[in-house]
Amino acid sequence: MRDAGADLALGTRDGLPDALRVLLAEFPREEWEKAGLSPLIRFWLDRHMMFRKLTVRLAADARAAIDGRADPRAHAAALSRFGGLFVGELHGHHHVEDAHYFPVLSRHDARLETGFGLLDADHHALDGHLHAFVERANAVLQADAVARHDATGRFLDGLEGFAPLLERHLTDEEDLVVPVLLKYGERGMG
Ligand SMILES: [Fe+2]
Ligand SMILES: [Fe+2]
Repeated sequence: MRDAGADLALGTRDGLPDALRVLLAEFPREEWEKAGLSPLIRFWLDRHMMFRKLTVRLAADARAAIDGRADPRAHAAALSRFGGLFVGELHGHHHVEDAHYFPVLSRHDARLETGFGLLDADHHALDGHLHAFVERANAVLQADAVARHDATGRFLDGLEGFAPLLERHLTDEEDLVVPVLLKYGERGMG
């Protein structure tokens, strides 16, 4: 049993508190497929999966570069491409959720309203990590041959700290949002 009074910050919580899991109890993950996932829900879950895959790819590439298994120029090109995609798409994704999805979804069920405030706070916390991600990625791209190894190590350290927080956010967001959509539909989602 999770304590609703526990610290719910992104860096410390281990899931949604029980008070925010009432609809998840009604629509558990293993029954989402059976309940009928709409194209919109599938698209949105696919975005989350893309963010997960990009963090895995970026970390694997950085490890290969550090271990000397990757050509530095090929690593720089991949980091620029996939890092830029990750940051740009995640910013856009957060914006759509904050501006369009959450205001609509939070009105359906008063019991879950605080959950959308929690997800919004997550986005602000993740913004700081995204900013650091960009700085460290740019440091790798601008480093000379001598500094590149250490810069890539710092980038990887940062990404390994950031990825579990992003995973926590994505999982909790899915646990809150998908049951709301399954129960109340997609009216007003656009
Ligand atoms: Fe989000
Ligand atoms: Fe999301």
